[in-house]
Amino acid sequence: MPVPTALPIVAPFPAARFRRLKSHAALRALVSETRLTPSDLIWPVFLCDGTDRRQPVPSMPGVARLSIDLLVPAAREAAALGIPAICLFPYTDPALKTLECEEAWNPDNLSNRAIRALKDAVPDLAVMTDVALDPYNVNGHDGIVRDGVIVNDESVAALVRMALAQAEAGADILGPSDMMDGRIGAIRRALEDEGHQNVAILSYAAKYASAFYGPFRDAVGASGALTGDKKTYQMDPANADEAVRLVARDLAEGADMVMVKPGMPYLDICRRVRDRFGVPTFAYQVSGEYAMLKAAIDHGWLDGDRVILETLTGFRRAGCDGVLTYFAPHAARLLNG
Ligand code: PBG
Repeated sequence: MPVPTALPIVAPFPAARFRRLKSHAALRALVSETRLTPSDLIWPVFLCDGTDRRQPVPSMPGVARLSIDLLVPAAREAAALGIPAICLFPYTDPALKTLECEEAWNPDNLSNRAIRALKDAVPDLAVMTDVALDPYNVNGHDGIVRDGVIVNDESVAALVRMALAQAEAGADILGPSDMMDGRIGAIRRALEDEGHQNVAILSYAAKYASAFYGPFRDAVGASGALTGDKKTYQMDPANADEAVRLVARDLAEGADMVMVKPGMPYLDICRRVRDRFGVPTFAYQVSGEYAMLKAAIDHGWLDGDRVILETLTGFRRAGCDGVLTYFAPHAARLLNG
């Protein structure tokens, strides 16, 4: 018998009725291709100084900056919901912003104090940080600015100091989000030299110059500060091949995991990265995606619970191992039933 060279993928109707396997919830569950669980989520949180402070972020209804004493119980609850990691973003007092961004590596800056408090109170929860200078920069840029130019190599040196201070404070995962060239290798070498071999790097490898970051810049107090745009370091939304090269570069320099950011408009990039490299791949459902969904949910135009889980499932279906999302606690509660 000759072996058939091309099997038909789908039998003709009525042998194939796609509605058969949709006809019963148990059958639908049986053939479901994608799983979403709380352990796929990383929760980004905004910090503010002081005590007993909860400052709502106007462009992100439902999200507030938390002082460390309020962050700790919120983090404990996230861990109890099964969320494995939290990612910290400090709001920095404008008086602490400088041209050299020294506050970024102050061992007692807000972010580093929060790391210590979290590792002390909720040791099972992984703490991730953002490695970029924008919260501490009078210019609002992720790197150091000299004569209007974001200088790469000096910025990398500053980022290394920042990363080491975060590792010293106890961070489990560093998230370089600055898009300077060579920062992953420089940070990895410094971590090795200073005895932080097990601190992981989740590189914001394919980070686009996106209008979807607007609400985030309000939340960390960087929008007023930013002069110009970030197009000389973040990616052109028109590019995809470049994302593949950037991921390859960051992996070669020592990244353990990679991120695509923003999320929903870039699922094609997630899929390409996952298929090409097979490394832990994350997407960031960013502030503007949150704001867009939340506005429609709050107007009653979208069914919130359903749309949140649908978007997060979409990331998993596109190949992501996990998602950074401001919806993390809400989604985890839904998933836990
Ligand atoms: C800073 C940083 C940004 C975000 C994460 N880290 C903003 C930016 O690059 O301007 C955006 C996150 C979000 O919009 O939710 N390097």
